[in-house]
Amino acid sequence: MSTKPKVFITRRVPESGPTLLKTQCEVAQWNKDDPIPRNELLSSVKGVDALFCLLTEKIDGELLDAAGTSLKVVGTMSVGYDHVDLQACAERGVKVGFTPNVLTNAVAELTVALLLATSRRLKEAIRAVENGLWGTWKPMWLCGPGLEGSTVGIVGFGRIGMAVARCLKPFAVNCMLYTDFAERPAEAKEIGAEFRSLDEVLAASDFVLACVALTPDTKEMFNKDLFKKMKKTSVFINTSRGGVVQQDDLYQALVSGEIGAAGLDVTTPEPLPTDSPLLTLDNCVALPHIASATHNSRGAMSELTARNILSALNSQPMPSEIKAS
Ligand code: DGY
Repeated sequence: MSTKPKVFITRRVPESGPTLLKTQCEVAQWNKDDPIPRNELLSSVKGVDALFCLLTEKIDGELLDAAGTSLKVVGTMSVGYDHVDLQACAERGVKVGFTPNVLTNAVAELTVALLLATSRRLKEAIRAVENGLWGTWKPMWLCGPGLEGSTVGIVGFGRIGMAVARCLKPFAVNCMLYTDFAERPAEAKEIGAEFRSLDEVLAASDFVLACVALTPDTKEMFNKDLFKKMKKTSVFINTSRGGVVQQDDLYQALVSGEIGAAGLDVTTPEPLPTDSPLLTLDNCVALPHIASATHNSRGAMSELTARNILSALNSQPMPSEIKAS
């Protein structure tokens, strides 16, 4: 019988992670693109030493107990960890790894792409071309707000918020504002961003970018009260988690003209049902949670998840460990 530690991988993932794990572990995998059913997951984790999971799996007491006392580490192939009950892991002595940094630039790049697609009305423009609605060149057709001379407000000035600000610099933005629990003076100075209160950011910004992690404090923070504080022309972009937005309030804000447009890479639920009222709106662009979807960043996320797991199994410091606060 093998004495190697057992790892279960919950999905088909870039080979870099599984290949590395196989050098030291016995690896079992749900090798499909669709998620493993919960019951199957609960039985597959029984007796494993490590779990390699994704943001779509709820890592809670039930799952940890199903794995049992052999479980030493959970590595999530994501920077977000709102799906992991850190307290339940800590109570059972299970370490948790995540994948910051390796996806920062990919997410920032997609945030800019979504911002431009939303503000420059690319969804309507592409549909017009494809549906034969492209008539003669018309001066007033499909205009939208540009970044040049604008004020951009970043809500959440962590790794990704800062990277987005850096990406936007060459677009001749007039004023880059940010808000967070605390000021980040050194980074802000380097980027040329100014700290303001949340209300000030909302009132002044032509573009409001949600770059906050989903926590009990940020859950549905973008609600009707916040949308009311934004400019009627403002473009709201969310590439963090759907849960930071009160989605019915967002729909109302878009329909009533409280805000100008929204670009969403993340929604509640995911996938967004095709009959979601948001999808009926020209001023809402929705993408299927692809912010980190570059070949390089997904490969690096898979490899970092494996490195986190191997380090924990070898009682070494993990490259990226999350600790319960
Ligand atoms: C994450 O890693 O949390 C992103 O949402 C997906 O790449």
